[in-house]
Order: sequence, then structure tokens, then C-alpha cells
Amino acid sequence: MFGYDLTTYGGMRGLVMTVAAAGRGPTAVAIHGFPLDHRMWADQLGVVEGRRLLAPDLRGSGGTPWVGDPVHTMDLLADDVASVIRSASSDGADVVGLSMGGYVALALVERHPDLVRSLVLCATRTRPDTDEARARRDATIEAVVSRGRESLADAMLEVLVPADADPLVRARLRTMVEQTPTESIVASLRGMRDRPDRTEVLARSQVPVLVVVGEEDALVGVAEAEEMAEVADGRLEVIPGVGHMPPMEAPSIFNALLEGFWRAGGRDAR
Ligand code: MLT
Repeated sequence: MFGYDLTTYGGMRGLVMTVAAAGRGPTAVAIHGFPLDHRMWADQLGVVEGRRLLAPDLRGSGGTPWVGDPVHTMDLLADDVASVIRSASSDGADVVGLSMGGYVALALVERHPDLVRSLVLCATRTRPDTDEARARRDATIEAVVSRGRESLADAMLEVLVPADADPLVRARLRTMVEQTPTESIVASLRGMRDRPDRTEVLARSQVPVLVVVGEEDALVGVAEAEEMAEVADGRLEVIPGVGHMPPMEAPSIFNALLEGFWRAGGRDAR
């Protein structure tokens, strides 16, 4: 069941972006992870109350084409999202970012602070890749080019969600990974590899922040999430039994956190 409309907005340099939209109220924008698209927010779109939720497909994802960029820098992806927010709202948006979407959200806070009313950072980090992680990105680029997206989906399913996760969640993830163009996967891996440290951006930002992490997240540790919440002077919510994809794995808990955070003006998650 898809309780949302698919519409288009202009991104940077003439890009036509597909954006899922549902709900009523002030604008919120949910930015998907890598290499996924708006469908990861299917349990939020048309379900969470109190906001008109927009879920853009970043360039080269879902219904938004790859248009030749060799690197999807987090800055470029954030500028695309800024363009969507400017078209949709005269007073900015409540921004939610998962993993790579969190990197993009932090770039948005740095480059377009006037557009961000509040921030939910889920399964993400402010720190850049370590040298080891950068080398792993290059190895992943090699692997996806030579072995294909199915092998990337196999590898990612091992780490995105715990082994006992709902098979439907695993199926949804596999579909999104396997439908993302390989060239877009390469460009996004390069962009994540080269992203800067945005810890100071978060520390300086005045917006209310909610940090959400799954206790079983194999990619982002609870300690990292704790540090981020502290840096942001924000609230931390750790969801037990959940991996890297809280909005898909535990939608009712995740949705209640969003609604509570927004209802309280972003100051309190309860
Ligand atoms: C994601 O889920 O968006 C990615 O795993 C993030 C990353 O690889 O750093």
C-alpha cells in the first residue's frame, strides 16, 4: 500500500527530481540512505502525522536520473534538497536523514542553515571516513563494477539489518539496491568517501536535534550516536533489536519518535 503521491521538483543544474509527498502540515523532508530511494520511507509517507512529508529521490536514485556526475558530493546532494525545500516551503523544513541521508542533512545545515528548522539524524555520523573506510569504498567500487549490483545487495543485506529481520524488509532493501544504476552507486560511494568532518557544523548549529540509532546497527555504533547527541546538545533514542534501518524495521516506534519530536517543536522527543 502506497499512501503517497509521486511528484517532481527541480534540483540543481536543471535536474528533475522525483519526490514522494504525503500528509498535511508544515513541510518535513526525509533523505534516504545509500543506495536506496524514497521507498525506504513507505512506512512514514501518509502515516506520520503533523507534517507534509516529502521524500526526494536523490540524483541517480529511484525516479531521479543519474545525469553524468562522476561524484555525488554530499554538497551537491544537499543543494538539490535545498532546491526542493525552497520550492515547497517558505519557512524551511524539518529534516530527517538516514545514514548517507544524514551526511546530506549535515551538508544542508552547513550550506543552507536558513532552510533547516529541526534535524533528525538516524543511523548516521558527523565524522568522515577513516583511511580504512576510504579504502573499503574503493574496493566496493571495484566490486560493484566487476560483479554487479546483486553482489552489492548480498553484501549490504548482511550488514544493514540483523539476520532475523523481517524478510519483507530485506526484500524491499534488495529491490532498491538492485534498481539503483551502477554509475550512481559509484558516484555516491566516491562522494561519501570524500565527505568532510561535520562535527563542528553540528556543534555550532542551533537547531533542535534528535539522534536515533538501532542497538544492533552494524555500521554505526551506539557510542558514535551518543557522541553526536552530546555534540548537538540533542536527544538520543536507542531502539533495541533494530539494525541500520529503524524507519523500515521498527516503523511504529520510529514514527512515534518523529511525531513526538515535531509536536514538541523539535525540543523533546517524547
Ligand atoms: C547508508 O546506509 O547510507 C550507507 O551505508 C552509509 C555509508 O556507507 O557510510
